[in-house]
Amino acid sequence: MAWEHLIETLDAQAVHTGENAPHAYFIPFDADQDPRAPRTESRRMMLLNGEWDFRYYPSFRDFKKDFDPELEVLDRTMPVPGVWQMNGCDSMQYTNVRFPFAYDPPYVPADDPCGLYRRVFTLEKQADAVYQLVFEGVDSCLLLWVNGHFIGSSQVSHSPAEYDITESLKDGDNVLHALVIKWCAGSYLEDQDKFRYSGIFRDVYLLQRDKKHLTDFCVRTPLIENAARVEIKASFSDADVSCTACLLSPEGKSIGEKELEKGICAFDVNAPQLWTAETPALYTLILRCGRETIAQRVGIRQIEIRDEVVYLNGCKVRFRGVNLHESSCDTGAYTPEEHILRDLLLMKQHNVNAVRTSHYPQPPRFYELCDELGLYVLDEADLECHGVVTLNGGGERDNYNLIADDSAFGDLIVDRVQRLVLRDRNQPCVLIWSMGNEAGCGVNFDRALAWTKHTDPSRLTHYERASFPPEGRDINRTDLDLYSRMYPTLESIQKYFREHTVGKPYILCEYCHAMGNGPGDLEDYFRVFEKEDRICGAFVWEWCDHAPCVGINARGQRMYRYGGDYGEVLHDGNFCADGLVSSDRTVHPGLIEFKNVHRPLRVLAADLQNGWLRFKSYLDFVSSAQAAELECVFEDGETVRLSADVPPRGTQTVGIPKGHTSCIVHCLQADDTAWAPRGTLIGWEQVGTPEFSTEPERKQSGQLNIEDDDERLIRIKGNGFCYCYDSAKGAFASILNDGQELLLEPMQFNIFRAPTDNDRRIKAVWEQYQLRYACSRGFDTRCEQTEDGVFLTTRLHISAPSIRCLLTGEVSWTIATDGAITCHLTLEQAEGTPDLPRLGLRLMLPSAFRQLRYYAYGPYESYIDKRRASLLGWYESTIDREYAHPLRPQESGSHWGARMMRVFDGSCAFMVTGDGFSFSAIPYTQEQLTDISHDDELSETDACVVCLDAAQAGIGSNSCGPQLLPTYHVPRKTDWKIILSFS
Ligand code: GAL
Ligand code: MG
Repeated sequence: MAWEHLIETLDAQAVHTGENAPHAYFIPFDADQDPRAPRTESRRMMLLNGEWDFRYYPSFRDFKKDFDPELEVLDRTMPVPGVWQMNGCDSMQYTNVRFPFAYDPPYVPADDPCGLYRRVFTLEKQADAVYQLVFEGVDSCLLLWVNGHFIGSSQVSHSPAEYDITESLKDGDNVLHALVIKWCAGSYLEDQDKFRYSGIFRDVYLLQRDKKHLTDFCVRTPLIENAARVEIKASFSDADVSCTACLLSPEGKSIGEKELEKGICAFDVNAPQLWTAETPALYTLILRCGRETIAQRVGIRQIEIRDEVVYLNGCKVRFRGVNLHESSCDTGAYTPEEHILRDLLLMKQHNVNAVRTSHYPQPPRFYELCDELGLYVLDEADLECHGVVTLNGGGERDNYNLIADDSAFGDLIVDRVQRLVLRDRNQPCVLIWSMGNEAGCGVNFDRALAWTKHTDPSRLTHYERASFPPEGRDINRTDLDLYSRMYPTLESIQKYFREHTVGKPYILCEYCHAMGNGPGDLEDYFRVFEKEDRICGAFVWEWCDHAPCVGINARGQRMYRYGGDYGEVLHDGNFCADGLVSSDRTVHPGLIEFKNVHRPLRVLAADLQNGWLRFKSYLDFVSSAQAAELECVFEDGETVRLSADVPPRGTQTVGIPKGHTSCIVHCLQADDTAWAPRGTLIGWEQVGTPEFSTEPERKQSGQLNIEDDDERLIRIKGNGFCYCYDSAKGAFASILNDGQELLLEPMQFNIFRAPTDNDRRIKAVWEQYQLRYACSRGFDTRCEQTEDGVFLTTRLHISAPSIRCLLTGEVSWTIATDGAITCHLTLEQAEGTPDLPRLGLRLMLPSAFRQLRYYAYGPYESYIDKRRASLLGWYESTIDREYAHPLRPQESGSHWGARMMRVFDGSCAFMVTGDGFSFSAIPYTQEQLTDISHDDELSETDACVVCLDAAQAGIGSNSCGPQLLPTYHVPRKTDWKIILSFS
């Protein structure tokens, strides 16, 4: 049959057999309707979503020979939109870089699964109408029949396919057959890092159009000093179609109405309300054409570059972005409008102002919501062929440009970019066109860039791989506006600006890998960006985890599974769980960190004694009072509102009551918005150090008695307690307090943590050095008794099986007559041994110790490099609330900068004081967190696991980003003092 070859063709025309030309997204309404209504209210739109009849075939070759859609028996149904793999057909597979099939373009595997869909719908066919059938997204190849007639095909999964099916339609019942094939030639260009889903995963609808109708239009809004021109250019099915345009102000008042002449008209708008993410003012354009009316929201804004700096409406702008995949834990690649809206509201609630649609266009409604809420969009073409770098098994970066530079793929690459631009160019939120991701660099991208810049000079162009041109090759830099990098080190950014620039603004299309307990480097990047206006912004990788929910376990918990959990041979494990929010949109601590790093106002300098704070605003457009109110809470509880109105990107000094020692500044949202009510906390900051004092809960002092049971164990008995010191270990084996044993296991020196995802590279070294099994060996214990207590000193080695000694030094323990134990640890790490995850002590207390009180960075987990969500102060918690539950278990729940922590079982308290230690108190052991693969498989251990650390390594971003900065390593020399006490 003629359609078979369409699956394996590189001919861009053939790929889109029977399709209408790509054009701007719009939905026509009847002339007597309000076209601003939700699209489903249009009488011209028949939404065909629902349960469609379906049959799955493991290989499309099984039936293709004599395929007659009418005769095919469809044995089940499939939701539309929906993906097969979440609905009982085919199997799940998650791969990142590697192609899931053999690299042999344009061919597909011998057994290429497919699904046949059938939908019957009833139509009162109008003689004077044409009918367009629209599929907003089908993964990957679509073949279409209507009433048995072959209509056409399509391949670009994330771009709409529109067919004029008028000829094949009849009055009454009509039958639509859609054959969806899992892999096609286009799949070589859709190697994005995601679960590989198939099916009709976006809306399908039929549009009834006037015979003579508007086919496309384009709106631009150049600014001329204090005025704007709203320019409209439209095209029509026929030369003699008349069309009027009416422009409404954001308040809905008519600004003017005009007839299009030769498809063109323009409105002058004086003192326009400009669209920005901070002020998403939207005008409305209403087009009336025959019996149709169409609405388009218009944001008046202009983006440009001057001296390597990006300006929006004449002001410098910075993108505080995230990368967004279309992903739901329940419906896979299908994200209904409520789902999209929930994501965008969450973003706005967390000070995100930009989204990169990694690595394909989102559904049309996404852009309308970004227009309304105020989010900048870096809109990316449906294009990635990363797998070319693993054609021999891994790491062949020489192959990177294989497809990019092969003219056989040229038209397909340009086509994908055209479909992006032509669909979305009327969306004000889109500021930047991205040619795709990780598809190499070469002539095909030069063409795509040239076409884009020529077609839409009003926006900027982006392509990260263009930063890596083939050796000795001049690439098209004229049509490329931004210099883009992913995961650059801080040092490389600084070097770039120090030594030379390519003369374009710098953008980080990906940075700060949010996998698991991460990212740990948001503040460090913020500080570099802050100093350099030529950096126009950065996008965290990534917004959400993608792991689907596969059911509910016996304990009633939802189970999320990642790559490898579905029996796939080729997969990339939990690299799909690297979001700021989990698959079910639970906010991870990393997102709170993002929110506060990107707070709209920061305190630059302060003098609390003399009563002033100096603020800097990070808003680009509005003065701070329009966005935020400031409140200052002093150490004594006194709370004052500050009357600050900091100009955009400016600073202002504000007076406060004098004579205080510390305060917390709250930045509160000034007005009710779609995402949060007035008064919502949008930033917080601490000035000075809040007061710290602990009254040591002293018991009656008394006499201490020492008993040497044998050479190894030393017992120290006091009033109500008895401690047993293991001199062979240099630590306590038993602590009896009021007759109760507090140590379920002997106290240990601890140099291991459950590797975080960002430890994934260094983890191998930790394993090689057996850090998990490291333990102490004590020598030469001295025991002295004075009036104040008992003094034990042990020379210490910390080493691991098969490995040379890692640390050497000394520990001394002073037991006071009231039972308090002072630990003084001095250790030095052997040269050449790896940087340690942590260095400290571990105590397994009975699980009844659940109440937690501490003075440290809280209430969120905090680490040396990931602590901007938290403030230093007093917090109450329970140990079951401390661990953050990343999908793959790992280190989580620590608190940095602690001076006191205390766990309490209702009658007995264990307290630790010190000068800036790190601790965690959670119901899981690091061994459990290392060995278990999924959060729902974790069970609380029968202990309150307390880790006390002199230091713990930072979190960083090294799962994908640079190595942890040396300043965040555990120091190689330790001199640490803490006091443990029981009451
Ligand atoms: C980048 C890529 C992303 C994602 C990330 C790792 O190289 O562009 O799509 O794969 O790495 O999570
Ligand atoms: Mg990739």
